[in-house]
Order: sequence, then C-alpha cells, then structure tokens
Amino acid sequence: ATEKEALKQRIKQLLREQNAVLVAHYYVDADIQDLAEETGGCVSDSLEMARFGRDHEAKTLVVAGVRFMGETAKILSPEKRILMPDLDATCSLDLGCPADEFAAFCDEHPDRTVVVYANTSAAVKARADWMVTSSIGLDIVADLHAQGKKILWAPDKHLGAYIQKQTGADMLLWQGSCLVHDEFKSVELETLKEEYPNAKVLVHPESPASVVALADVVGSTTQMINAAKEMDAKEFIVATDNGILHKMQMAAPDKHFIVAPTAGNSATCKSCAHCPWMAMNGLVNLAQVLETGANEIHVDSEVGKKATVCIDRMLDFAA
Ligand code: 13P
Ligand code: SF4
Repeated sequence: ATEKEALKQRIKQLLREQNAVLVAHYYVDADIQDLAEETGGCVSDSLEMARFGRDHEAKTLVVAGVRFMGETAKILSPEKRILMPDLDATCSLDLGCPADEFAAFCDEHPDRTVVVYANTSAAVKARADWMVTSSIGLDIVADLHAQGKKILWAPDKHLGAYIQKQTGADMLLWQGSCLVHDEFKSVELETLKEEYPNAKVLVHPESPASVVALADVVGSTTQMINAAKEMDAKEFIVATDNGILHKMQMAAPDKHFIVAPTAGNSATCKSCAHCPWMAMNGLVNLAQVLETGANEIHVDSEVGKKATVCIDRMLDFAA
C-alpha cells in the first residue's frame, strides 16, 4: 500500500482502539472526508456536526474543521474528549469578533435579542440568546421577527444582511466577514455566467450581496449539495470553499461543477476559494493527535454552561 493508505489504515485502527469518531466539515481535505465516512463518522455542515457530535456515544470526538466547531462539540458534550488536528485552525469571523468588544456592543443595545453565528468563540456564545448556523439562521430570525423582537447580529455582515433582507427583521449588524467568501466577485461571476449560460449558480450566504443577487440557490453547504443533486441542470457555478466539490461531485457524478471566480483569478483556479484554516487539517496531524492525545479542546466550564443555552435553543428549534 502507498504511504497515504498506510496512514489511513493506522487512523482507522486508532479510532477503533480509542472509541473515537471523526466529525469533519465539507471544507477539509477529501481524504479526511472519506475517512470520516468510511469509519461511521460524519461529514457535514456546522449544524449537523454539532448534532452528530452531541448524540454520538463515542468517548472521543476528533473534529476536523476549525476551532469553533471543536468548542461547540465540547460545550455540548463536556464529558467527552474533543481532539483537533491543529488548534490554530481558527476563522476570520471568530478572530474579527473579540469577546470583550462584543460584550460592550451588547451592553450598548440591551433592548435587542442577541443572535450569533456558530463561527464565534465560546465566550461570544456565552453572551448570546441564540446561536444559529447558515442552514437555520433565516428560520430562527424570521421567528424572532414575527415575535416583534429587534436583533443584534454578529459577526458575519453578509449573512446578516441577507437574513435581514429576506425576513425584514430589524437587525443591527457586527461588521465581520469570511475571508474566503468575501473574495467572490459579481463582475467576474457575470462574465462566467455568460460563458456557461445553462449553469445554475449556488451561493453560500457568507458571500457579498452582489454575488448572492446572482444566485439560483442560496444556502448552507448541505443545502448547496442537495441543490446540486436535485436541480435539473448539468452545470453549476459554486460560490463557497472549493473543499465542497468533493462531496458535490460524489452526490451528482454526471454533473459539472465550477468554483465561482475570486478577485483577479479565473474560474479555473483550483487553489482559489479555500480556507487556510480548514487546510490545516491533514492525515499526518490527525494520526498524531490520536497517537498522543495532544490538541485537546478545553472550554472554561462557566463559559461553557452559559454558551450551551444559545446552542441548545437552536438545536431544539431545529428538532
Ligand atoms: P456551513 O457548513 O454551516 O454552511 O458553514 C460554512 C462555513 O463557513 C463553516 O466555516
Ligand atoms: Fe471561517 Fe470562512 Fe474559513 Fe469558514 S471558510 S472557517 S467562515 S474563514
């Protein structure tokens, strides 16, 4: 077997020996996604990763994604051991929303219901009334709006603006953004659409409004994959991290997928639109953390207890 195959076999063995399960996001390396699938773990969007991790009976969860995903898993299952291949795998949304500045923002607007995106630290979640992911944010805000609630939203300004537009809710927006999705550009996308007039455009709502405006479907990563499978089209332009193409192509093998263009790059750029932090997850460091038990996620128990309220609300709403 090749070196890679040997490494994969070793990881499988370690997962079995340690009663551990692998929970991966669609943006990580294809080999890790396949491993998760083959070993009874999960490959999914942020909402399903949280739910799967909470409900699984394994004693150890290995979260292949970025730090907020590991923290969410720990908050929901404090009794489990949560390992991550690289603890420095963060997210520009999380980095752009420091807990102290966020708390001051909330203090200035005590009349607003605080809704935060999953892509935040445990300390930010501890200050929130609701946590949402991209697959359920719209429904939750629509419900809060129907109850007459005014909303303070953080941190993604594009997702916030999209939800605001769709629901008509009164939303005060923190000005964060995802460095991957913020790079998709509408002028280049329009040109590409002319080149592929029959292609449907799938857009993640962390993208700018001008890109969302060109979409046939706007949704979370899972919703985008489902659309690729179900829509009656042969070609798709995809505005999200290119890691998703692995699963999309498996879900719809006879269809053609093109990653949406980013500034100054053509649509054929294979390395564009890829999260540098998701890319920190590899087979070597995955095997290492299982061997050594290094890179365990810890969340302060008081912070975790507070943060669990907003996450549980979302999971109950989703149930
Ligand atoms: P979802 O998979 O929930 O759509 O989240 C996208 C994302 O950017 C995660 O970092
Ligand atoms: Fe954060 Fe964007 Fe990377 Fe997702 S793709 S982890 S939102 S920086």
